[in-house]
Amino acid sequence: MRVLVTPDYRTLSLTAAELVVKAVRTKPGLVLGLPTGNTPIGLYEQLVRSYREQQLDFSKLRTFNLDEFVGLAPNDPHSYRTYMRKHFFDHVNVSAANTHIPENPGTYEDAIKQTGGIDLLIVGIGTNGHIAFNEPGSSFASRTREIELAPETIASAGKYFEGTPVPERAITMGIGTILESRCIVLLASGASKKSVVHRALNGPVSEAIPASALQLHPNVIAVLDEETSHHLRQLR
Ligand code: PGA
Repeated sequence: MRVLVTPDYRTLSLTAAELVVKAVRTKPGLVLGLPTGNTPIGLYEQLVRSYREQQLDFSKLRTFNLDEFVGLAPNDPHSYRTYMRKHFFDHVNVSAANTHIPENPGTYEDAIKQTGGIDLLIVGIGTNGHIAFNEPGSSFASRTREIELAPETIASAGKYFEGTPVPERAITMGIGTILESRCIVLLASGASKKSVVHRALNGPVSEAIPASALQLHPNVIAVLDEETSHHLRQLR
């Protein structure tokens, strides 16, 4: 695993965007796995900037999102489809037909396979160690499926739902699905992630910390900021 420590969130976002931009320039039909949440917002801002200012062409890009809540209409303001449109899809020339959000676990894996597999997958980490919505205890062999969200995940999503109930179930790519990606970029920023990042990257590989599965993958780049990695280095 390569660990890139960046001084702050802005540089983390720029670094992650450089990795994506380079991959899209090398392979315009790149198959890209995409996260939602707070952490990748700066990455999406930089990618939109690359489209506007450097004419980066996303017209052949294929995207597969990591997860989606169950029971929300696609145009619900809290759905991850809405998030993706707001932060990325509506601002670049990606073709809507090439963007995929997991709504049907049965067909999602087939759709990924038909593209030849995910080239580059970007993923965040939850404070409980989840990757996508693979909560602690998820099998490392798991595939795209419907799952029950952990109480801490529901609590942390609460701030975005502004008083409306957070769905208790979601569809997520499995850990086995994630690990089949050719390259994985883990993004983590801020003091709230430092303990779990240390356990995921340096601790035992265990289903109790789903992100520790990334230690099993041959091509992972962890892009962290100082706040997140401080603890990591102190404990080394
Ligand atoms: P965050 O979520 O980027 O909003 O911290 C990360 C995650 O739960 O995977």
